[in-house]
Amino acid sequence: MKATSMKRVIAVASAAALLTLAPLVAQSSELTDKCDKCHGKNGNSEDTKVPTIAGFSAAALEDILNQYKAGDRPAEKYKPKDGDETDMQAISKDLSEDDIKAVAAYYAKQTFTPHKQKFDAKLAKKGAKVHKKRCEKCHSDGGSNADDDAAILAGQWRGYLTHQFELIASGERDVPKKMRKKFKKLKDGDVEKLIEFYISQQ
Ligand code: HEC
Ligand code: HEC
Repeated sequence: MKATSMKRVIAVASAAALLTLAPLVAQSSELTDKCDKCHGKNGNSEDTKVPTIAGFSAAALEDILNQYKAGDRPAEKYKPKDGDETDMQAISKDLSEDDIKAVAAYYAKQTFTPHKQKFDAKLAKKGAKVHKKRCEKCHSDGGSNADDDAAILAGQWRGYLTHQFELIASGERDVPKKMRKKFKKLKDGDVEKLIEFYISQQ
């Protein structure tokens, strides 16, 4: 084979390799642009009411979106600066299974940047103990491990976490049975300590 045709063979082979790889690389899309309107650039939110979703595991993201889609998790109405008011249940109902897989793969590839927030160091220290005893088993590394099947808690916004704790405590938001059991063991003031602990990890 002549050198030029050899080069061509290589070029064609590598183009083919690139083509087959392409679908595996999580790309931003029109859909993720919509998510970013509320969740911030690449899923790092700038509003304390809206959670950062960057860097969660794909499994956790798929699971959460399917919960909203099935109506199993309550959703808050929200209006981004340049977009229409809607909520996560309505958004998820419009997503196909493939859409859910694609957006989950995309946000799993982004980096979770913990939010700089004021916190009470004394309470955070107490919260660390409560967390270790009751929550670390599933929310490992202080709630920062993305490979757990749950949302990242460490460095999440205070406003968002506080509201979710309210929904979980009132039973409006369902959680796994084993988590509910631990949650019931919390004493007065423990939730405040836990929130300070989660947001103290910046
Ligand atoms: C109109 C604003 C808006 C848009 C658009 C939006 N979200 Fe949300 N999302 C929210 C708000 C507000 C919450 C938190 C409160 C709630 O549960 O409703 C949330 C919660 C979530 C959560 C839960 C995070 C956690 O810690 O449990 C995930 C995951 C999520 N959104 C993913 C997405 C994806 C993926 C898209 C795009 C397909 C999207 N969102 C589009 C506003 C939005
Ligand atoms: C048996 C495992 C398990 C234990 C123990 C557990 N959790 Fe969870 N937790 C989960 C899973 C799984 C989810 C996500 C699934 C869901 O939303 O239903 C979750 C979700 C949450 C959320 C919602 C996060 C979000 O942004 O959506 C909070 C807050 C939370 N857990 C706090 C705690 C606290 C505090 C403790 C200890 C008192 C605890 N969990 C113990 C498994 C557990």
